[in-house]
Amino acid sequence: MLMLTEEIRQEAERLRNEINEHNYNYYVLDAPVVSDAEYDRLFRRLQELEGQYPELVTADSPTQRVGAAPRTDLPQFRHEVPMMSLQSLFEEEEVRAFDRSVRETVGDAVTYMGEPKFDGLSIELVYENGVLVAAGTRGDGTIGEDVTDNLRTVKTVPLRLRGTYGLPVPSLLEVRGEVYMPLAGFEEMNLRREEAGEALFANPRNAAAGSVRQLDSTITASRPLALVSYALGRTAGIEIETQEEMLGKLAQYGFPVNDLCRLCHSVEEILEYHAHLEELRDSLPYEIDGAVFKVNEFALREELGVRSRDPRWAIAYKFAPRQETTVVVDILASVGRTGSITPVAVLEPVQLGGVTVSRASLHNQDEIDRKDVRIGDTVVVQRAGDVIPQIVKVVLEERPPEVTPFRLPDRCPVCGTPVQREAGDPITRCPSLDCRAQIEGRIEHFASKGALDIEGLGEKWVAIFVQEGLVRHLPDIYDLRKEQLVVLERMADRSAQNLLEAIERSKHTTLPRFLVGLNILHVGEHVAEVLAEGLGSLEAIMNAPLERLQTIHEIGPQIGESVQRFFADEGNRRVVQQLLNRGVTFEEQAPAEGERTLAGMKFVLTGALEGFTREQATEEIQKRGGRVTSSVSKSTDYVLVGAEPGSKYDKALQLGVKTLNEAQFRELLNQQGPAGEQPRLL
Ligand code: IVH
Repeated sequence: MLMLTEEIRQEAERLRNEINEHNYNYYVLDAPVVSDAEYDRLFRRLQELEGQYPELVTADSPTQRVGAAPRTDLPQFRHEVPMMSLQSLFEEEEVRAFDRSVRETVGDAVTYMGEPKFDGLSIELVYENGVLVAAGTRGDGTIGEDVTDNLRTVKTVPLRLRGTYGLPVPSLLEVRGEVYMPLAGFEEMNLRREEAGEALFANPRNAAAGSVRQLDSTITASRPLALVSYALGRTAGIEIETQEEMLGKLAQYGFPVNDLCRLCHSVEEILEYHAHLEELRDSLPYEIDGAVFKVNEFALREELGVRSRDPRWAIAYKFAPRQETTVVVDILASVGRTGSITPVAVLEPVQLGGVTVSRASLHNQDEIDRKDVRIGDTVVVQRAGDVIPQIVKVVLEERPPEVTPFRLPDRCPVCGTPVQREAGDPITRCPSLDCRAQIEGRIEHFASKGALDIEGLGEKWVAIFVQEGLVRHLPDIYDLRKEQLVVLERMADRSAQNLLEAIERSKHTTLPRFLVGLNILHVGEHVAEVLAEGLGSLEAIMNAPLERLQTIHEIGPQIGESVQRFFADEGNRRVVQQLLNRGVTFEEQAPAEGERTLAGMKFVLTGALEGFTREQATEEIQKRGGRVTSSVSKSTDYVLVGAEPGSKYDKALQLGVKTLNEAQFRELLNQQGPAGEQPRLL
């Protein structure tokens, strides 16, 4: 028996917190902050500790589930058979050990299907009697997001099975696979986005995930997505015994199946196939980050069984990370909206896996010291199927003689205030609440889409308003007057009017959006929803003791303390009160279960409404359990028709779908709506 020390207990707890945070960034926000390799390292370390000390395993350990909670803005999708993950292996020896343990259990009659490991978003497609009826993302493996309308727009997704060569159509077929973005389409799309001044996608995987997880399926339709199929969920009315047979049948039914899949009869063939794919990797028109090996015979899979998170009958054998060398041209210190000062290396642009990399975060001074990165250094950068490029190390042999160690400036590069760093905190911060970078950042954030969503109040105007002394604190936004705006250069009468209207509209918001807008450390869209749902009102959140905050699922000490610290501050409470005084209101919380009066109903919106923006109408519907889709079909329950409706209105008439005008819509919301849902002030 190994002795479980307090130190190890703490390490496990730290790992769990860290991994949970990474899961959240990766799955919920689509914005990971560490490389896959680093994540894998943390995960394996936790698995290792839990293996040695089983008493460390908690029900909420990230090893006990797959992924993280889905975003709340798309309807949920339940997987009747959980979608599992794959254990990642990196070393030949580990792969040999996997083969040995398989053979120990099921004997030597086993074969393996070798497949590329596609770097996209895994999804499930449900076919009833040969027709596509639903589609969902993997999410946490059991609950994903319903992306039926979105996936219907993907050209390679069959809308109905091809009935070839007398192949009977199964009554139920759940097909699993990966939606990805081919490299050529990805590059072209980014080029167009660059021309249009839109934000670029970091890589094809993010682009695919972002395109599938859209509320508006016309956006998905405009993206160059593709499907590849490689697994099944539930089936009825079809017998399949091996992966090889399954791939053949899927191809016959009309699904894209990858043509590099190959049956392997021994561990030598596995290793050979892996090496072969790695050689092909750079010439393939899509991204792969390893090879997957699955026991071919379904009966043998049964014998092998599954662990909590992944099956014992399959593994992912990852490729070595992709690396390149380049030169650090400069190191910038960028000031975030919370005052954090982050060093960012400006790199001579370099191609890494089909993506041009020209910047890499160096995170903090400790990280710079550890790697000793200096301006002028040649460095190794990597993106191992990874999302964010990182500097692996300095090539010391290439270091020019004159370079000096890099230190973050002693003063904030924006406002000149001496910077601070607290003991135990790796981050250097500008402590001045008057720092322009922070003032601007806070206001931009408040006005951004996920928060109060003030159209037109972006970076450019925020900078000008702050410069001109018109806005300094959040409530100042609501004091802007037309005569102050029209005198500004490039602000025409019309734009001033539009902006003021957008500001006025933003006053009617929701509690989660309001919380996001306040710019509380660690409170993003998801956490804000969780807080609002958990406590129900702003007042309750503002006054909740730490213990109460922590009873909410998903709220740990880090978030809890941050929320409490924020509302303990008199200045922050004043800002909140001033915003409310200026007329910001929100419905406090979604109706509880049982008051979901529009549960399961599908709405389509067309034309302009007077009393709601599209987003508000969508929110009202979603709060009551309904959903908004982008195209009218027979299964649409209502088409909400505003002024100057588009072709969706014609389609509704044609299909005989019920239409609602704005007044009828209000009636539908109010009549059946829960009582006491009036906006409330503190
Ligand atoms: S099979 C239990 N096959 O890898 C079987 N997955 O870490 C699980 N993936 O979520 C899926 N290529 O997104 C399978 N040829 C392939 C794959 C593949 C990529 C992804 C998939 C899954 C993840 C598992």
